[in-house]
Amino acid sequence: MIERPRRLRSSAAVRRLVRETHLVPSQLVLPMFVAEGASEPRPIASMPGVVQHSRDTARRAYSEAAALGLGGVMLFGVPERKDAVGSGACDPDGILNVAIADARAEVGDGLLVMSDLCLDEFTDHGHCGVLDAEGQVDNDATLEVYAQMAVAQAAAGAHVVAPSGMMDGQVGVIRDALDEARHLDTIVLAYAAKYASAFYGPFREAVDSSLQGDRRTYQQDPANRREALRETLLDVEQGADIVMVKPAMSYLDVLADVRLAVDLPVAAYQVSGEYAMIEAAAANGWIDRDRAIDESLLSIRRAGADIVLTYWAAEVAARLKR
Ligand code: PBG
Repeated sequence: MIERPRRLRSSAAVRRLVRETHLVPSQLVLPMFVAEGASEPRPIASMPGVVQHSRDTARRAYSEAAALGLGGVMLFGVPERKDAVGSGACDPDGILNVAIADARAEVGDGLLVMSDLCLDEFTDHGHCGVLDAEGQVDNDATLEVYAQMAVAQAAAGAHVVAPSGMMDGQVGVIRDALDEARHLDTIVLAYAAKYASAFYGPFREAVDSSLQGDRRTYQQDPANRREALRETLLDVEQGADIVMVKPAMSYLDVLADVRLAVDLPVAAYQVSGEYAMIEAAAANGWIDRDRAIDESLLSIRRAGADIVLTYWAAEVAARLKR
């Protein structure tokens, strides 16, 4: 026998030598929820271990994330009051903008402060944009709000804004608005290929959203692979700095395609339902929790993600440090 692939697996030392993919804290980003008016953290039942932070506990989490060497935090706001047009999103005193400023005050430039740029956390109907007279999401009217929201987030101190609403033209409009307001260095991380996924289920609880209807007229059909490239290339043309695929684990083929199609850094979002599945199976003793977490993250990196957003970012980074 000439070929004996087992030779390169025969000891821990050789396995370490030939390992192709690594997890490093600097490529992990921690998504966080900050709730307006909360005096203490509120657990999210469908995401055991994840909370809606108060501003104070969030501050501690930002500095911990910086100390762990994470790549960044991705902030989501949970407002006390929602309305039809998502007014809290553009208000400098709105919870997300306040949380961005808190994070910058806490970590300076030692950690990238990223913010979700979407209206669904702020609207009472739960859609990612404003509605027209027929109750449909109005693409172009929504773009105007996104432009204002981007400038508000950059003014609050966001290093990175992350448009996630899947409106046509959103990246271009946001880039123009940022440039016009002289936020030339604010980075746009575009949710380029974002699917209408059942795996966002626990996120609705995380942001207290009661979505009326579904998002199938703006998020992508899970059956489509080529369409992801069309969406991604449009975002690149419009000035995206980083492109993201979401969810991650059920879309590794898409991630691999996107990796080959662009030269930009590629991110993937391991979403709430992916987190919940592994936590639930582990809680039942059906899988080895830590190994399953690492394997899931490695698969996402192996498929082509440079950057992974994961609710386990801090935990995994702490484990890598030990
Ligand atoms: C939109 C947004 C969503 C998530 C991140 N940004 C919800 C959606 O598109 O329906 C989901 C993240 C997760 O499930 O962990 N603001």
